Amino acid sequence: MVPPTRRVDSLAKSRGVRSNKRLIGKRANRTARRRKRMPGAAEEQMTETMKIEFVALTALPVQTRASPERADGEAGHARTLVIFMGKDFAFGAATRRLIGDRGEALIKKAAAAVKFKGKALTALDLIAPAGLAAERLVVVGTGGDGDSEDGEGQVKKNVPPQPFDHAGLGGFVMGKLGHAASATVAFDPPRPAKDPARAATEFTLGMRLRDYRFDHYKTKKNEDGEIKGRADIVLAVGEPAAVRREAKGGEAVAAGVLTARSLVNEPANILHPEEFANRVMALKKLGVEVTVLDEAAMRELGMGALLGVGQGSVRGSRTVVMRWRGTKNAKDSGKSKAKPIAFVGKGVCFDTGGISIKPAAGMEDMKGDMAGAACVVGLMQALAGRKANVDVLGAIGLVENMPGPEAQRPGDVVKSMSGQTIEVINTDAEGRLVLADLLWYVQDKFKPKFIVDLATLTGVILVALGQEHAGLFANDDELSERLIAAGKATGEKLWRLPLGAAYDKMIDSKVADMKNIGGRHAGSITAAQFLQRFVNGTPWAHLDIAGTGMGSPASEINQSWGSGFGVRLLDRLIADHYER
Ligand code: BES
Ligand code: MN
Ligand code: ZN
Repeated sequence: MVPPTRRVDSLAKSRGVRSNKRLIGKRANRTARRRKRMPGAAEEQMTETMKIEFVALTALPVQTRASPERADGEAGHARTLVIFMGKDFAFGAATRRLIGDRGEALIKKAAAAVKFKGKALTALDLIAPAGLAAERLVVVGTGGDGDSEDGEGQVKKNVPPQPFDHAGLGGFVMGKLGHAASATVAFDPPRPAKDPARAATEFTLGMRLRDYRFDHYKTKKNEDGEIKGRADIVLAVGEPAAVRREAKGGEAVAAGVLTARSLVNEPANILHPEEFANRVMALKKLGVEVTVLDEAAMRELGMGALLGVGQGSVRGSRTVVMRWRGTKNAKDSGKSKAKPIAFVGKGVCFDTGGISIKPAAGMEDMKGDMAGAACVVGLMQALAGRKANVDVLGAIGLVENMPGPEAQRPGDVVKSMSGQTIEVINTDAEGRLVLADLLWYVQDKFKPKFIVDLATLTGVILVALGQEHAGLFANDDELSERLIAAGKATGEKLWRLPLGAAYDKMIDSKVADMKNIGGRHAGSITAAQFLQRFVNGTPWAHLDIAGTGMGSPASEINQSWGSGFGVRLLDRLIADHYER
């Protein structure tokens, strides 16, 4: 059980400087006023953006006549019909019935004219043939048997075929339809999926992820007169009841990913530590226990490493602990005994570098230095939303890394909660200082089965892995392998890098137990070695998401700056190994 530690009730930092307190009081009022005005408040985060209904394929109206019928269907507005086609004009049986011989002939003619061959992730966009209860017909290619299915466009040797990416397909279709579209999708791919309910769920997940945009702060309509409002999708499937059951879970996961993205996308003048903590409170509605530790509580616990990072900011630091007790055991048994699994996130709401200040170019990206924390919150939302049968603890450390008269200096020595002392050589290596206290706190207080931490920890992980893989470090091979497998299944890919005694030595300090940077070489590894000194032997994995959590290249399922990386990955890890 999360201890009844001090709750947050004010923004005031207990620093004891009188003039400062007055200033902070004013600031708090201003913040409260601003929160009312500004969009993106906690309630808005969870609003539904898309409506997706499921019907039976057999219930779709079939094209029977050549004479034009009203194209606007029962709903009274123009709909688009989406169907799938593989190579060599392969259609599913239900699709063939739907479009009839005339429809098929027409598609063949149009396809020949524009050389549409049904290649995966291509589409043929048509005015619907007369007789179809739609205005627009989009024929979406799903490729042929010989295609590589991993979307990397090449056939690989000695690599087991990856499962077909139905989420990517859903994203592609949503991209074709456009925001706030009204469409019926005949989900009847020519090559039927092994698990059709799962495939349809992934497909709708992809649609929801693609439809997301972060436009709270746009007050003017965009130039191409983009439609506002929410999409209205009907997915026709073989067994609607089964899909409906499974898709509920998918919807919860999508909501978690979108929450993570929005948190990453929010600017740091809005999303400072206290506001971040407030937004996490919204999870209570889903049955997540949320406890906030303010600075006084953290000082009592001895979190000198985390507090040192935040001391240059007028914004108070916070630690937020979340618990989802989804197992029967965790719910009734004497709450203290149950061992959760734990996720820890770096939540640096803005990272200027502190006194070791960063160069100006690109510094605005450091609003996303809380992507690890955002992922943990999104994951908790996903798990609670789909009522996952698992006992999970989430902990995030929220700070702002600022220069200023009270900021920590290079050369300062801080004492961590573990008792180990740290020489702060570079104030820009702050994420590891935050995580040091969080990791120690979590293993000490909750004795979890394992801990996975997520952090936008090092710029050089981008040098090594680019934006394709997050860096994975672990002291436990089984956990590492399970994470890698979940990465392959979701497309949120991980690449393991080594740990070892020689790297560990690189952070020994002359004046303290360790220093917070290693030197020029192996920067991502020495950062991970630093973290490992605070897990106290607990099975642990660290994901360096500096390259994958933000600034992501546009993909079929994400067009936004914040990616929400890690939510689907960890949801899958849990679903595959830790439920029931
Ligand atoms: N938040 C940064 C890492 C980062 C860089 C994330 C680029 C996303 C994109 C982290 O706090 C940091 O500043 N790390 C330093 C470490 C160095 C001082 C050893 C870095 O990467 O330069
Ligand atoms: Mn930094
Ligand atoms: Zn940082």
